Amino acid sequence: MNILKSILTLMLGLATTQVAGQSIKPGNTWYDTNGSAINAHGGCVVYADGYYYWFGEQRSSNKSDGISCYRSKDLYAWTKLSRAVTPTGTKTDENRDIASGRTLERPKVIYNAKTKKWVMWIHWENGNDYGQAKVAVCTADKVEGPYTMVDVFRPNGCDSRDQTLFLDKDGQAYHIYSTNMNSNTNCERLSEDFLTPLEDYVVQLKGRRYEAAALFGVGDIYYGLFSGCTGWDPNPGRYMWTYDLMNETWQAPADFRASDGSTGINYCIDSGKLTSYQSQSNFVFPVPGKDKCFIYMGDRWNSSNVQSSKHVWLPLSVRSGYPTVRWYDEWNLSVFDDMYRMKRLKELEDGAEVYLLEKFSNRLVSRPNASLTIENDGTSNLCFVLHKTSKPYVYKIEDKAMGKFMESVFGTTRWQDEADRESQEWMLWLQEDGYYRIQNMSDGVCLSVSGNTTEAGTSLYLNDASSSIHQSFAFYFDSSVHTDYEEADMFSKNYRSANLEAMKEQATTVGINDIRQTSNGRTIYNLTTGQRMRSNILSPGLYIEVKDHKARKFIVR
Ligand code: GAL
Repeated sequence: MNILKSILTLMLGLATTQVAGQSIKPGNTWYDTNGSAINAHGGCVVYADGYYYWFGEQRSSNKSDGISCYRSKDLYAWTKLSRAVTPTGTKTDENRDIASGRTLERPKVIYNAKTKKWVMWIHWENGNDYGQAKVAVCTADKVEGPYTMVDVFRPNGCDSRDQTLFLDKDGQAYHIYSTNMNSNTNCERLSEDFLTPLEDYVVQLKGRRYEAAALFGVGDIYYGLFSGCTGWDPNPGRYMWTYDLMNETWQAPADFRASDGSTGINYCIDSGKLTSYQSQSNFVFPVPGKDKCFIYMGDRWNSSNVQSSKHVWLPLSVRSGYPTVRWYDEWNLSVFDDMYRMKRLKELEDGAEVYLLEKFSNRLVSRPNASLTIENDGTSNLCFVLHKTSKPYVYKIEDKAMGKFMESVFGTTRWQDEADRESQEWMLWLQEDGYYRIQNMSDGVCLSVSGNTTEAGTSLYLNDASSSIHQSFAFYFDSSVHTDYEEADMFSKNYRSANLEAMKEQATTVGINDIRQTSNGRTIYNLTTGQRMRSNILSPGLYIEVKDHKARKFIVR
């Protein structure tokens, strides 16, 4: 009996060890296969020949000690290889060396298919301060190295601190870096061999003081994650997107100064978002073979002993059209399996069975208890049936399970039997990114998110239309149920331009016959950014002037 017991305990023991090795615990010390804490900070991961390679700053306490390299088959268990970059040579007066004592930060590695070389760009400092603001460029014949120095320089003569590389689908590589004393972000294309920047760099995100750039692409869209500029201390993450890296066209879905002082929209959506879950972005890794599945990689810096800084890796989703990162104490790659089951519906059809996805939280409208909330995917998500009315763009919204219709009664959502009342009719105001403001035809109130919070469990309520309240919902369908529904091509360039046209059409159809120049002092919304503007600071785009929310009087220009 005792023998059986010990065999069982042993088996159970083995089972738990295996499971523990098959997950990621963000913020915990991550041990390599030799049992040492992984010493790879500010780094990146690349995939080559069936292996993942993790490069990072190797630190000896606070001192820089070259660039480390780890290898893994599964992204969970990492084996330390020889250092990818070993400090060599002696310090030169012109600061053009990788001698011991120099500071090497934020290494990024890409493969050049033409030269068949692996290329690494590193933030380079002299070892005393952050005044040099250069890059060290190194190459290797094999992915794991050894990498040897090609040059150390200021790209296009500009100061370059936090930096990253981005290799586009077409083989063009880009270098993106904080510059002008961290106030701007520059982007430059690299030469064919990826060893030098081309001259036509662009200055982006002027005056925003963004750091820690991590870029990735989906369809026609490039996304950038950034941090604010607070040294080793964490701050709220934020993202921007653009169709063209070489233009100054980075955007956020709304761009206001949040109460925490940050600009832009946070990609973290759970409790802890104001410190990016105590981390600073370093890289976004596209998981090979898993469409639109990304891993957010961040550093939980320990400024008194950088070597012991922890790693914060979390799944990143773009289901909402924007990057969002949820917190998990522990996770594995299976979280990606269901990430895109709910898909954006292409056309709103009469009778369509849909879910409402809230823009800033990437969460579905749900009813775990009596009232509406936003929740993680699960059993409380509500399936709605859309019913077209005879009025253009106006729908009735039925809760499929209950068979009751959403109604605004004295400014609160109620669920009633279907009736011929305007209070059961909802105008769906399209936005450029495919989201809708859902406004009641009787009293003009709109479905709104309490406190603009993004956490699961946040309740919804009805309020006047306002660009400073989160009031954007998109229609999604369950692709495992409705295999015949068509998905919107939301990562294509055409998606937004088609929506812009549709918005103009809607605005001109729906009782707006009063199109004229706006005068100062009125409320004007930039429909491109959702931003409330004064008319004397208008920038190009499509604008709606709201004369009277309740009477639904709008002016479009
Ligand atoms: C951070 C930067 C780190 C490191 C640190 C030094 O802002 O992202 O990579 O340079 O400053 O204070």
